[in-house]
Amino acid sequence: MAPGSRRPSERRGSDRRLSEAASRRPSIDPLRLIPMDKAVHIAGSDDFNVVFVGAGNIMFGSEEGPWNHSFRFEHKLGPRLKVVALIDPAIERATHVLQKKCETFVKSAYENTRVFKTLEDFHKNMAPRDRPKAVIVGSPPMFRGTTQPGRDIELQIMRFFPGVAMFIEKPIATGPSEEIVEAFKVAKAISDSAAVCSVGYMLRYLRGVQMIKQIIEENNLVVMATIARYATAYEAIAKPDWWDKSKSAGPIVEQGTHFCDLSRYFGGEVDIASVQAHSLEWHENAGRLTKQTIDESKIAPENRIPRITSATWKYESGAVGSFTHCVALQGHNYSCELEIYADGYQFKLVDPYVQPILYIRRPGSDLDEQHRFPDDDPFFSEVSNLIDVIEDIEEDPESACILSSFEDACKSYELTWAIRVASEKSRKPPASTPAA
Ligand SMILES: NC(=O)c1ccc[n+]([C@@H]2O[C@H](COP(=O)([O-])OP(=O)(O)OC[C@H]3O[C@@H](n4cnc5c(N)ncnc54)[C@H](O)[C@@H]3O)[C@@H](O)[C@H]2O)c1
Repeated sequence: MAPGSRRPSERRGSDRRLSEAASRRPSIDPLRLIPMDKAVHIAGSDDFNVVFVGAGNIMFGSEEGPWNHSFRFEHKLGPRLKVVALIDPAIERATHVLQKKCETFVKSAYENTRVFKTLEDFHKNMAPRDRPKAVIVGSPPMFRGTTQPGRDIELQIMRFFPGVAMFIEKPIATGPSEEIVEAFKVAKAISDSAAVCSVGYMLRYLRGVQMIKQIIEENNLVVMATIARYATAYEAIAKPDWWDKSKSAGPIVEQGTHFCDLSRYFGGEVDIASVQAHSLEWHENAGRLTKQTIDESKIAPENRIPRITSATWKYESGAVGSFTHCVALQGHNYSCELEIYADGYQFKLVDPYVQPILYIRRPGSDLDEQHRFPDDDPFFSEVSNLIDVIEDIEEDPESACILSSFEDACKSYELTWAIRVASEKSRKPPASTPAA
């Protein structure tokens, strides 16, 4: 059988794992989350065909952070990796990254990669042997997560390559809030198709996160509160679109989404109607920034982003969630913390992006235990688990798990939009512009 041509009904093992996982909120034994240099690539000689959609930073790396999916795929699959196509309307950028890969020892994965502007072009020109086993999507979110032509990459994947696994970057979309309903339609189509799908909320794969999950599960704890804080180092953010709400949907939807998602991972479903929020806006005295590396005057005033957004909500369980996002720090590293409270327990995850440290206070002691996780690589664990689920390794059914489904990611997206809308409702307009 050609690689990737397994039909959904033949993937019973992974379907079972996915549905079991969904019913008990998916988690992974933290001991199974191993660093990349300890992982052995999957044995076998058959090619593992992959299509990358987007030739940008998430796929091929940048100075801005540790993300670089191609690098993790190379390590997970070794010589089996064959990137059959790279889809990007910026043909020059795509060709350039491929040239760089072909100058290195991973050449065999990229020497036959073809560049196309659209997935449809690839499908029209594809030789049967190039049928992908997985399509990895790292295009900007404005081109995904809807049912509209050109902004429907998930539906295209299912139409051109039924049953093929997908990986979709976060956030699942960035269109206007009225389109959230379309994202849920896409989620339903994915789940009806039974295709494997993972969304890029990689912080769920942190060993510290899974350690919290394990303690909660082992002790039957009920989460009482989640308190999240995400302070970005704005000086390092040089992409003008990030500062423009009409392009990136703002810092909660684009970036804070990681912590809204983690909060939901522990707190459960959010009562969306309960979300309240306030913001400090760019035009308020306390909102002045002195180290922006972009020229904000080129962004229309109504599209400039808030400096601080602070939200609270109720979970359906009765627990309370809160989240504060700050565009305030300079330098390079972000300052992020997540606290989770349950009867007798406090979990405090600090610096999940750079050097995660988990502080745990348990019943019977007023002292915090401290856990560090050197070499933890959630980006690798995310890719590794996806591939293991696609490969459906039956001998070890508990080993692989996808922690973020498309439908679940839609709910995180919905929460971030609810926070943005609530903060915009409660803000004061600038003195010079008429009230909205
Ligand atoms: N999980 C993380 O920590 C993390 C980190 C970085 C980026 N991301 C996410 O990855 C996505 C991409 O971000 P990036 O930093 O790589 O952006 P980028 O701008 O560096 O790259 C995006 C690429 O997609 C291409 N593109 C545009 N339209 C396309 C289309 N219709 N089809 C295919 N390609 C298209 C662009 O030409 C560009 O080369 C975003 O959703 C972002 O939030 C996630």
